[in-house]
Amino acid sequence: MQDVQRVLLSEEEIARKVKQLGAAITEDYQGKDLVLVGILKGAIVFLADLMREIKTPVNVDFMAVSSYGEGTTSSGVVRILKDLELSVEGRHILIVEDIVDTGLTLEYLVDILSSRQPASIRVAALLDKPDRRMVDAVPDYLGFSIPDDFVVGYGLDFAEQYRSLPYVGILKPDAYQEG
Ligand code: IMP
Repeated sequence: MQDVQRVLLSEEEIARKVKQLGAAITEDYQGKDLVLVGILKGAIVFLADLMREIKTPVNVDFMAVSSYGEGTTSSGVVRILKDLELSVEGRHILIVEDIVDTGLTLEYLVDILSSRQPASIRVAALLDKPDRRMVDAVPDYLGFSIPDDFVVGYGLDFAEQYRSLPYVGILKPDAYQEG
């Protein structure tokens, strides 16, 4: 893929990690009423793989929130574009995110979902960019900590492109810088 500078995480590396995360989640949620809340659209590939590695019954639902629009920096404004269809009261929520960057999206999601009286809330994130954190948000289940580069693939996009790449790659700066 000509816009990708280099592959950061291969398909095989990701698959191995997702298996491990699934095993840990399976163990932790044995016999519990678990709802996976996938955050559209970036988390869809991670969620689809992760849910098949969780060997205990789960429900799946989705939320969509606005984050970056078409740029690569956070506006700090988070808005619900699509809400859950399931009730989460008294149930265990596992938010499934593609990447935690500033942490603003996650902080907002945890706040809003906490107000619905779930039994617990945890977060599974495939990627974390700790260098860019603006608030105190730490994923409970983390795939990989990565440096502060803009990445695409495995669900992650830039301006709605590159989500279908099977690996996570670093985008060439000239693929997103204008002129
Ligand atoms: P935060 O609110 O800054 O933590 O942003 C989280 C959201 O920004 C993620 O769910 C992604 O949709 C998006 N995002 C952050 N960094 C990247 C990246 O490197 N590539 C693609 N999307 C990103």
